[in-house]
Amino acid sequence: MAKVIVFVGTVMGTAEGVGLAMAKQLESEGHKARVEMSPRAQDLLENKDALWIFCTSNTGAGDLPDNIQDFYVQLTQEFPAIAGQHYRMVILGDSCYPTFAEAGHRLDAALADIGAVRDGEPLVLDAMTGEDPQEQALTWLKGWAETL
Ligand SMILES: Cc1cc2nc3c(=O)[nH]c(=O)nc-3n(C[C@H](O)[C@H](O)[C@H](O)COP(=O)(O)O)c2cc1C
Repeated sequence: MAKVIVFVGTVMGTAEGVGLAMAKQLESEGHKARVEMSPRAQDLLENKDALWIFCTSNTGAGDLPDNIQDFYVQLTQEFPAIAGQHYRMVILGDSCYPTFAEAGHRLDAALADIGAVRDGEPLVLDAMTGEDPQEQALTWLKGWAETL
C-alpha cells in the first residue's frame, strides 16, 4: 500500500475533479490517497513518505492558479529540502492559449531545481481536444499505478 498526495492548483475546479478521481481510483486499489487544495512547502516536508502528484491548471497568461501560487513562491524562495523525492505531474491547459501549459511546466521546473525527481513525462491535458480530463488521467494512472 502506498501513500499518495495529490496537490491541486485550480481556478474553476477541473483540476480538482481530476485530482479527486485519481485519489478515488488509488483508494479503490488499496492505497491511501488524498487531495490537498491548499498546498504548502511544509506539506512536502511532512509527507516525504508519500508519492506526490501535482495536478494544476493554467490561468491568466501562463499563470498558476491562486491556490498554488504561494506554494510556487515557497519552492523558489525557501528551497524546501526535498531532493530525491519522487513526484508525478499533471498539467491542465488549453492549446488555444499561446502560453499553453507553461505555468505547469514552470512548477515542474521549480521542483526539479531543488532536486525532486519526476517519474515519467508530465501528463498534459488539453481542454481544446474536448476529451474528458478525468478519463484521460485515470488511463494514465493505470499505466503506472501497479508499480506502487
Ligand atoms: C481566464 C483563463 C485563462 C487561461 N489561461 C491559460 C494559459 O495561459 N495557458 C493554458 O494552457 N491554459 C489556460 N487556460 C485554460 C485552463 O487551464 C483549462 O481550461 C483548464 O482545464 C482549467 O482547469 P481548472 O478548472 O482546474 O482551472 C485558461 C483558462 C481561462 C478561463
